[in-house]
Amino acid sequence: MVVLQAVGHNPTGVDPTREQWTEIAQVCKTKQFIVVLDCAYHGFATGDLEEDAWVMRYFADQDINLFLAQSFSKNLGLYSERVGALAVISKDTQINNAIQTNMELNIQKIWSTCAGQGGRIVNLIVNDEVLFAKWKSQMLTMTERIKTMRQQLVDSLRNLDTPGNWDHIETQIGMYSYSGLTAKQVEYMRSKHIFMPSSGRICLSGLSTKNMQYVAKCIDEAVRKYPENDIRYLLGEAVVVGEVIVVVIVVVVVVVVVVVVVVVVVVVVVVVVVGGGGEEKATVIIIAVVVVVVVVVVVVVVVVVVVLVVVVVAAVVIVEK
Ligand SMILES: Cc1ncc(COP(=O)(O)O)c(C=O)c1O
Repeated sequence: MVVLQAVGHNPTGVDPTREQWTEIAQVCKTKQFIVVLDCAYHGFATGDLEEDAWVMRYFADQDINLFLAQSFSKNLGLYSERVGALAVISKDTQINNAIQTNMELNIQKIWSTCAGQGGRIVNLIVNDEVLFAKWKSQMLTMTERIKTMRQQLVDSLRNLDTPGNWDHIETQIGMYSYSGLTAKQVEYMRSKHIFMPSSGRICLSGLSTKNMQYVAKCIDEAVRKYPENDIRYLLGEAVVVGEVIVVVIVVVVVVVVVVVVVVVVVVVVVVVVVGGGGEEKATVIIIAVVVVVVVVVVVVVVVVVVVLVVVVVAAVVIVEK
């Protein structure tokens, strides 16, 4: 069994194209999947019920056993009425009969008779020509408003020269947008009383011309304060600020001690081997000290560079993953 969202995908705002749907349906057919089409945003993608119904009709026309679950919470503003519809579509009458019997038994056990007022409201609207037309036109107004909000948000971010590419907010559809904000950036947004899940999903219907500039400004601040490609974000602040510095210091100290010991031993050996008077010894010792200093400086620089390169490479690997 596979569950697919029909239209206006929550949370990404990205729907497959018709071509991609055709391929998905083909796979479902070949693998004989039972498909559940979950449709909670009918009309929200394009503002047109007919257009948005394409995928549901397409799947219903295929030789696929299909459950089509539709919610009217959002598109009819009936959040607290729990109104939806389940259509069971199969070309096999035996399957249809078996499902009907099972559903009747389960319905009896679970809720017996459900509340009917929400359903009556939907029934009234979709079966009255004037109300139906009004609903469709209001849906268009609503989706156009959401599209405008998308556009204004992107324009505002571009005006602020906010780092990053925000094109996806424009190209996504429906009520939601995966903004691309990281969990850390979302934390910052919350501290500014703008609420969204840690995934960075924005509900665009919460934006208005009144709060737009404030939201864009906070996104801008969040992105600049906690850059996505910042090594602190990639490796975690504690790692970079604390652990990496400690590691660098420990490695440098160990290397310096080892190098000093080795060079001192070499100098002592050289002095002993060279022998001779006080002046010669003094020259040898001065040369040895210079050698020690040069070697220590070179080794410290090399070690610091190597550690930093390792950290950056680790960050790049994480980004690519
Ligand atoms: C994809 C999807 N399916 C179903 C639902 C649930 O709809 P309802 O309000 O009818 O419970 C939601 C609600 O957020 C949803 O996003």
